Amino acid sequence: MRNPALLLSFWSVYCCFAAGSLENLRPQGSLQDEQTPTGVPATAKPPVAFNLRTSKDPEHEGCHLSLGDNQLLEDCGFNMTAKTFFVIHGWTMSGMLEKWLHNLVSALQTRERDANVVVVDWLPLAHQLYIDAVNNIRMVGQRVAGMLDWLQEKEEFSLGNVHLIGYSLGAHVAGYAGNFVKGTVGRITGLDPAGPMFEGADLHKRLSPDDADFVDVLHTYTPSFGLSIGIRMPVGHIDIYPNGGDFQPGCGFNDVLGSIAYGTITEAAKCEHERAVHLFVDSLVNQDKPSFAFQCTDPNRFKKGICLSCRKNRCNNIGYNAKKMRKKRNSKMYLKTRAGMPFRVYHYQMKIHIFSYKNSGDIQPTFYITLYGSNADSPDLPLEVVEKIKLNATNTFLVYTEEDLGDLLKIRLAWERISHSWYNLWNEFRSYLSQPSNPSRELHVRRIRVKSGETQRKMTFCAQDPKKTGISPGQELWFHKCRDGWRMKNETSPFVELA
Ligand SMILES: *[C@@H]1O[C@H](CO)[C@@H](O)[C@H](O)[C@H]1NC(C)=O
Ligand SMILES: *[C@@H]1O[C@H](CO)[C@@H](O)[C@H](O)[C@H]1NC(C)=O
Ligand SMILES: *[C@@H]1O[C@H](CO)[C@@H](O)[C@H](O)[C@H]1NC(C)=O
Repeated sequence: MRNPALLLSFWSVYCCFAAGSLENLRPQGSLQDEQTPTGVPATAKPPVAFNLRTSKDPEHEGCHLSLGDNQLLEDCGFNMTAKTFFVIHGWTMSGMLEKWLHNLVSALQTRERDANVVVVDWLPLAHQLYIDAVNNIRMVGQRVAGMLDWLQEKEEFSLGNVHLIGYSLGAHVAGYAGNFVKGTVGRITGLDPAGPMFEGADLHKRLSPDDADFVDVLHTYTPSFGLSIGIRMPVGHIDIYPNGGDFQPGCGFNDVLGSIAYGTITEAAKCEHERAVHLFVDSLVNQDKPSFAFQCTDPNRFKKGICLSCRKNRCNNIGYNAKKMRKKRNSKMYLKTRAGMPFRVYHYQMKIHIFSYKNSGDIQPTFYITLYGSNADSPDLPLEVVEKIKLNATNTFLVYTEEDLGDLLKIRLAWERISHSWYNLWNEFRSYLSQPSNPSRELHVRRIRVKSGETQRKMTFCAQDPKKTGISPGQELWFHKCRDGWRMKNETSPFVELA
């Protein structure tokens, strides 16, 4: 037990989920009964079952594969040459397969018609206290590896066609399976792998890059304070942290009012954790609306808009469409998303040099930007300040839109007189105090350089009137597109320099 405090908070969530019912905490039929063959009726469900889904109907029984039974394999219609998915659930409080699993199975069947979609049902071993379920995963991983080794005896079956998809604790089951199997499975996808008891663990005791030829991971609920249900550390070849990997839009943790509206805190936690599955499903069914993630060393640099490059494999599709990358070091990638499907947004980097001529003190403007495109216009987008706006320097910002604006044509920059957030209000107040003798606050912006993350296009927008580049609280400035690309280093400025 590495982090007792974390585990404790996890327990408390368990209690809330289980609605305080003691029966839920200790399911009937203890683990020992199920593991010892003696005293177990011949018809009892095995602790680890392999259910080949033969229909999209979640109520449909499917076909239970049995290790060594070749006839059954044939009768079930297992296609030896097709792709094979193993969907592995996590720790369960209900003891039943949840709705997300059916969504995922159906999305896989839709996307890959010939594929074998096998649900690894280890509910009896997962419907335990969390700590007991964790202790069971090694054995479940062994069973999955055993099934794969048996399939490998068939001539046409190839381990390279196998893709293990594990959610939460199931991600670490997939890790064990990949570790135990003879040979290397093609791919493992970890969907918000469980954090408690795995954070910082040895790489043989958790999902890790050596468990498959390609390991990709989505982290959706890894807040850096309080309880982290998902693992924070990178555990794959690529580790994608949507929205920074801590709080997901639409789940109610982002804003106080939202969380009250959302309901219980545990429901919000479930929403954040499960978001990884829905992002993966989105990548399967909305192939025409792919979400891109961008490599970055830390989430704050991404928030500042610094990391929107696609050079040298620095960007990738997320979810099923992720391109295989095998780097020595983990690759942490980030993106913003919408609150629901399709999750895709459009990222822009804004580079703005902010001149301060008249003011000696520190001014912290609250800028809003509006993008006008050939397809649509954006709403007013706040320029999020991660640290502080630097004056007489180039600042980089990240903005994103839910809609495809098409080609950008114009940009409006507004300095809000009335702050919309307490943080900004405080900043305005501070800068007001720092220069009481000079209430006329003015900054200058001559051009805005924009880079689209999705198209990688660079554009430069120039002040509509080159002589009027000043902006004060309550005012706005307009910029029109003046060139494709950014200014070359050796190019002399065509713009009127303000003396
Ligand atoms: C089995 O899968 C292969 C490869 O996806 C496909 O070409 C073939 O038609 C499938 N066979 C059957 C019987 O569905
Ligand atoms: C910015 O530069 C101008 C002159 O180039 C100077 O007068 C001004 O004080 C500087 N402002 C800050 C905040 O450094
Ligand atoms: C910049 O310099 C390079 C090499 O000296 C030259 O080929 C290029 O034309 C220059 N670009 C401009 C815009 O002057």
